[in-house]
Amino acid sequence: MIYTLLKKLNQEAMKDIIRVKSLISADVETLLNQQIKKEAQSSSAYLSMASWCDRNGFDNSAEYFFKQAEEERQHQMKFFRYVLDMGGTALSPEITNVKIEYNSFREIFEEALDQEISVTQSIKNIAARCHKEQDYVTVEFLNWFFKEQREEEYKARRALELFDLIGEEGTGRWEIDKHVGKIHYGNEAGE
Ligand SMILES: [Fe+2]
Ligand SMILES: [Fe+2]
Repeated sequence: MIYTLLKKLNQEAMKDIIRVKSLISADVETLLNQQIKKEAQSSSAYLSMASWCDRNGFDNSAEYFFKQAEEERQHQMKFFRYVLDMGGTALSPEITNVKIEYNSFREIFEEALDQEISVTQSIKNIAARCHKEQDYVTVEFLNWFFKEQREEEYKARRALELFDLIGEEGTGRWEIDKHVGKIHYGNEAGE
């Protein structure tokens, strides 16, 4: 009897230890770690785009992508710290196969938009999982990123539109680059 009682107490204590240790489920932790990697990949891709633009004389676009690269790094860190704050294990990702060459100036902006759309989708997937297990704490944390993605997708679409609006003939690309430097969204909901 006493033994059973002790065993029961022990089990309760174990459960508490597990519960106290981490505030997120193993599945959510895995998804968040995948997102950490995705943000790091985005940062590396943007840095590569900045390099290409700089090498090819598109200075404003290079600056635009340098800034994007830094923002993605900040996103990565936000996810990283959140996993740790929740008692999880944040994994520093290995990034490989970073592109060096692009076929055209336009291709870079197409890839940038694709990348942002894919990031929005993957954050939606995390949120869907969180709703399923009623992890509203993480849902609330993710809301900042939805607002951020609204801005990121807007800017990426705006940049790509410039190619159709201005056209690439003659001094077109030079003109597009000039306008890329002026793209902004509202008052930049950065925080
Ligand atoms: Fe991001
Ligand atoms: Fe982004």
